[in-house]
Amino acid sequence: MADQASRLREQMSAWLRDREIRQDGVEAGGGGGDVPPAAPIFAIMSGKGGVGKSNLCVNLALAFAEDAMRVLVIDADAGFADVEILFDSTPLLTLGDVALGAAIEEALIAPKPHVDVLAGGSGRFFDEIDEGGWGRLWSGIARVSGRYAWVLVDCAPGVHSLAERLLKQGANPICVVTPEPTAITDGYALLKWMRVKGFRGEPWVVVNRAQSRAEADDTAKRLVDAAARFLQMRVVYAGWIREDPALSQSVMARRPLLQHVPGSPAAAGYRQLARWIRDRVGPGFDGRGAVR
Ligand SMILES: Nc1ncnc2c1ncn2[C@@H]1O[C@H](COP(=O)(O)OP(=O)(O)OP(=O)(O)O)[C@@H](O)[C@H]1O
Ligand SMILES: [Mg+2]
Repeated sequence: MADQASRLREQMSAWLRDREIRQDGVEAGGGGGDVPPAAPIFAIMSGKGGVGKSNLCVNLALAFAEDAMRVLVIDADAGFADVEILFDSTPLLTLGDVALGAAIEEALIAPKPHVDVLAGGSGRFFDEIDEGGWGRLWSGIARVSGRYAWVLVDCAPGVHSLAERLLKQGANPICVVTPEPTAITDGYALLKWMRVKGFRGEPWVVVNRAQSRAEADDTAKRLVDAAARFLQMRVVYAGWIREDPALSQSVMARRPLLQHVPGSPAAAGYRQLARWIRDRVGPGFDGRGAVR
C-alpha cells in the first residue's frame, strides 16, 4: 500500500514537473480537429449569468501560475471581452480571428507570467461559429495545449453550441453557482442540458459568493442531490469561494484579486480550488477529458 502510494506520488510529481517546464507544443504535425489536446481543458460554465465565472477563470489561472504552472485562458464569451478587461490588457487578435483563420500563436497574449490568454474581443460576437471556424479554433487550441498545464475556457452563460462542442471534444465542465435559488435552479437546468446532449462525465460544481462554508455546502448538496435523483448524474463538489467585497474592488481596479488583495478570503478560496484540481487530476489525464 505504502509503496503504491509513493509510486503514485512520484508519478504525480514527475507529471507536474513535466507540465511546469514544457514550453513548446508537443503535437506532431500541428493537427486538425482530431488531435486531442495535451492538457486538461476545463469549460467554466453557468446556467445563470453574472455568477463569477470570468473572475474564477482569471484567478484560478493566477493560482496555478503562483505554483509555476503555465495556463491558457480562453475567453469564449466572445464579444464581451471580460477576461481582457480583468487582466487590463489589449489584444490585437481574438478568438474570432482564429476562427476566421489567424494562427492562434499570433493571437495569444501574455498578461501575466505563466498565463497566456486568447481574448474574446469586444463587440464581435461568435454565438454561431460555423463548422469551419470551430475546426480552426479547436485545432489551434489542441496544437498549443502542450505548452500548458491547464486550459481554462471562460464560457458565456447558459447553453450554446460552443459549450456543446467543447464537451464533445472532452472538455471537463465546471458549473459555477451562487446560493441564490435562481442560480441553483439554472445550474440544475445546465446539468440537465448536458445530460440531454449526451454528456456522460461527472461535472464539477463550484459555489461562489457563499457567506459561510455551511451555506456553500448546503448549496452544493442541493445540486448534487437533485442531479443524482432526477438525472442519474454524479456531480462533484469541487470547492467554494466566499462572498468578498475585495472582489469587486479588484474588478474596479482591473487587477485580478490574487494580485490586488492576495490575502483576501476569496483569494484563499481560488487557491484552495487550484490545489484541489491539481490533487485530483494529476497524472491520470489521458488527453480526452479524463477527469471522470
Ligand atoms: N466571490 C465574490 N464576492 C463578491 N462579489 C463577487 C464574487 N464573485 C463575483 N462577484 C461579483 O460579481 C460580478 C460578476 O462576476 P463575473 O464577471 O466573474 O461573472 P460571470 O459569471 O463571468 O458573468 P457573465 O455571465 O456576465 O459572464 C463581479 O464583477 C463581482 O462584482
Ligand atoms: Mg463572464
